[in-house]
Amino acid sequence: MSNYSDVIGFIKNQFDNQEFIPLHGPRFLGNEKKYVNDTIDSTFVSSVGAYVDKFELMMSSISETKKSIAVVNGTSGLQVALRLVGVNSGDEVITQALTFVATINAIIYNGAAPIFIDVDLDTMGLSPKSVESFLDEFGELREGICYNKKTNKKISACMPMHTFGFPIHVNELVQVCDKWNIPIVEDAAEAIGSEYHSKPIGSFGKLGVFSFNGNKIVTSGGGGAIVTNDVELGVKAKHLTTTAKVPHPYEYVHDEIGYNFRMPNINAALACAQLEQLDSFIENKRKLANEYNSFFKSKGINFRTEMPQTKANYWLMCIELENKKEREAFLKDTNGNGVMTRPIWQLIFKSSLYSGFQRDGQINALYLEDRIVNIPSSVRNEKT
Ligand SMILES: Cc1ncc(COP(=O)(O)O)c(C=O)c1O
Repeated sequence: MSNYSDVIGFIKNQFDNQEFIPLHGPRFLGNEKKYVNDTIDSTFVSSVGAYVDKFELMMSSISETKKSIAVVNGTSGLQVALRLVGVNSGDEVITQALTFVATINAIIYNGAAPIFIDVDLDTMGLSPKSVESFLDEFGELREGICYNKKTNKKISACMPMHTFGFPIHVNELVQVCDKWNIPIVEDAAEAIGSEYHSKPIGSFGKLGVFSFNGNKIVTSGGGGAIVTNDVELGVKAKHLTTTAKVPHPYEYVHDEIGYNFRMPNINAALACAQLEQLDSFIENKRKLANEYNSFFKSKGINFRTEMPQTKANYWLMCIELENKKEREAFLKDTNGNGVMTRPIWQLIFKSSLYSGFQRDGQINALYLEDRIVNIPSSVRNEKT
């Protein structure tokens, strides 16, 4: 008899008592086949096509930004976004260690180094207060450019991540970064449809980046989008991600070393059909979150809910357990009984690959690392 048999029973019941409940599965309930077939029938499956344009317009509408650029995945979007705000080799970028590895890889691909700053306990994302304390101690403005007094390197960006779709205290972060003249790139990979004070996540920084990987709420198979209100930067992002080719009917001339990061039309077709269902998917997930919340409350377990004045998309739902031992017992019990659960990420600096970078005390990140577990969060079949 498992310790968590009532939890396992409740979760299974939410998902029609299937034998195995995945953490997050994709749902294709709309025009997916129709749009993908269109691209095959028209032969426009690859780098140009109407669905790429349609996807970019849909993303601008969803994120309330002036320009969106479809890319092959979220990681490449982050890499290019950092470069566009001026991150160069030898620079530093403020970010969090409690994140998926792609956030950090995107910094390192640009030849820059991450500075790991703590997260807030309530949002699980980058803490504006901790960023401020770090900058008060180590920051120095030289002719309007922020330098790290300890390393003498330029701090050329700040990249917060909205963990599992829960918005960070983003207005406070914008204030701190404005004071220090540090541009923000939002890693909004997990946060499509989330809002802070009714404004879409992804629209607060100079650029925001979303992921459409298969494990996200909506997917293009693999894909990403860069969004921005700075049209000039948006045009540059499109240019840089499409091999920096100078527009011409037949000549092949490139004016810088660009990337082939464009999203194929066949993937954009899938993404368009999925985006049409984004609102209903989020509504469906929010109902599940409500049911989880009541259930876990009755069990005395902390189910994580959105902060006041924010809307979370509830991409991956999570609970906070008493301690690491309890977390291990929960993971073992649930995974052993057909309910997929997983711990939050190991803090990035704990891997020897990423251990040499500057960091603060990480008190909250260490606390959460031991206790947070994701539970099944897929869009459910509508009850009839
Ligand atoms: C926080 C975060 N950043 C970046 C990414 C990278 O996105 P992709 O897998 O589309 O490259 C992901 C998801 O996969 C993510 O969860």
